[in-house]
Amino acid sequence: TVGGTREAIDPVRFISNHSSGKMGFAVAEAAASRGASVTVVAGATTVEPPANVNVIRAMSASEMHAAVKTELSSATIFVGAAAVADYAPANAANAKIKKDGRDVMTLELKKTPDILAEVSKNRHNGLLVVGFAAETNDVIGYARSKMEKKGLDLVVANDITKDGAGFNTDTNIATILTRSGGEIELPLMSKRELADKILDEVVKLRAVE
Ligand code: PMT
Repeated sequence: TVGGTREAIDPVRFISNHSSGKMGFAVAEAAASRGASVTVVAGATTVEPPANVNVIRAMSASEMHAAVKTELSSATIFVGAAAVADYAPANAANAKIKKDGRDVMTLELKKTPDILAEVSKNRHNGLLVVGFAAETNDVIGYARSKMEKKGLDLVVANDITKDGAGFNTDTNIATILTRSGGEIELPLMSKRELADKILDEVVKLRAVE
């Protein structure tokens, strides 16, 4: 999965985030260039997808969830690089919401499906599951707890408070956590270079299976 999701408030407004799709597309391109057949389920992105991958557009968390479910049975590796909204408006309005003199407006939100957790829980034999964690504090602690809660094989933790890391940059600074307790702390590098580091770890995991 790649990019940010858009959760409709009404026909003209949505809740989203700063994901550009650069990180996820870099992983897709790196995998394709190693000979993998790659399907990307992409939300909102500000950059073009690589040429040699199959792209399915799915804008909201629930659309992304449905698209992933459809595509997953043929996958051997799932990489969740998307910034999926954790909450979406509980009742998106059918018509544009008017101000009507209101100074304060309350929006009720409901939890979205956790695509990565579900993929991991219902995984078929041989599927490797890689997640990302974009954190601002206790980066490794939160990333490790996501790995455990969601039963992941690898987690790529990015500290989005660092210059050159996280959303909408061409570079990233990440630590790759492995299920055996390994921590590979990487310096600033292009997202494309990081993509290759992630895939190198995936290859190592595959080799020990
Ligand atoms: O797209 P870019 O601008 O290049 O930015 C890259 C990135 C910062 C978006 C990317 O590197 C990244 O960290 N993606 C995960 C962002 C995030 O906020 O993750 P999270 O901590 O909310 O979620 C953890 C993991 O669960 C992620 O793999 C996410 O895809 C997945 N998830 C989360 C919620 C949900 N409802 N479904 C999910 O699948």
